[in-house]
Amino acid sequence: MPEKIESGTCRVLVLVSGGGTNLQAILDAKERGELPGVELAGVISNNPGVYALERAKKAQVWTGCVSPGDFPDRSAFEKALLCAVKERNPDLIVLAGFLVVIPKEMIRQYQNRIINIHPSLIPSFCGKGYYGLRVHEAALRRGVKLTGATVHFVDEGTDTGPILLQKAVEVRQEDTPQSLQRRVMEEAEWKLLPEAISLIAAGKAEVRDGRVHRKDG
Ligand code: GRF
Repeated sequence: MPEKIESGTCRVLVLVSGGGTNLQAILDAKERGELPGVELAGVISNNPGVYALERAKKAQVWTGCVSPGDFPDRSAFEKALLCAVKERNPDLIVLAGFLVVIPKEMIRQYQNRIINIHPSLIPSFCGKGYYGLRVHEAALRRGVKLTGATVHFVDEGTDTGPILLQKAVEVRQEDTPQSLQRRVMEEAEWKLLPEAISLIAAGKAEVRDGRVHRKDG
């Protein structure tokens, strides 16, 4: 973990692709004073029209957009994304429903400083192809009685990085993918993501040997 996160203000940059309810949970936690030592460095989307950007603007947080369609190829897009990220000088990058595969170079430069929220209890229902409602459809198909959400550090795999926080959520007999998605967000995601940011900003979590160790107290 970089020294700066352990001591001073932690500049948090949030990357989004959609409605931004997880971003809203972060903005609300900040507004309630639950994220001491956290400064929101900005919100970047890969899609100009998303509601997440409106949420950030309403909260007077800097916004930016880097859209793949504006670049001749993937490599040019990845360079522009990394450049936009670096310009915000973040200590921590939070993927809050960011549907872009993170460039390897960004993972290398921000090792153990990027976290993601996934709507299942990893290692169940994760990896390639498991995003959005598909995760909850798979959980219902398998008939699990508990699902949940996971916050993990991002490595080069898909949902394979060190796990920071998990929270279980009950699956009900009558659930649809939509109702389960909603309950997982309300009961787990919107709580876990601000908590994860708070822990990291306070220097209370570190990655060692591929696992997260908590330093409480
Ligand atoms: C959430 O379910 C999150 O777990 C996943 O993408 C979704 C984003 O939703 N990674 P929102 O844009 O935060 O509302």
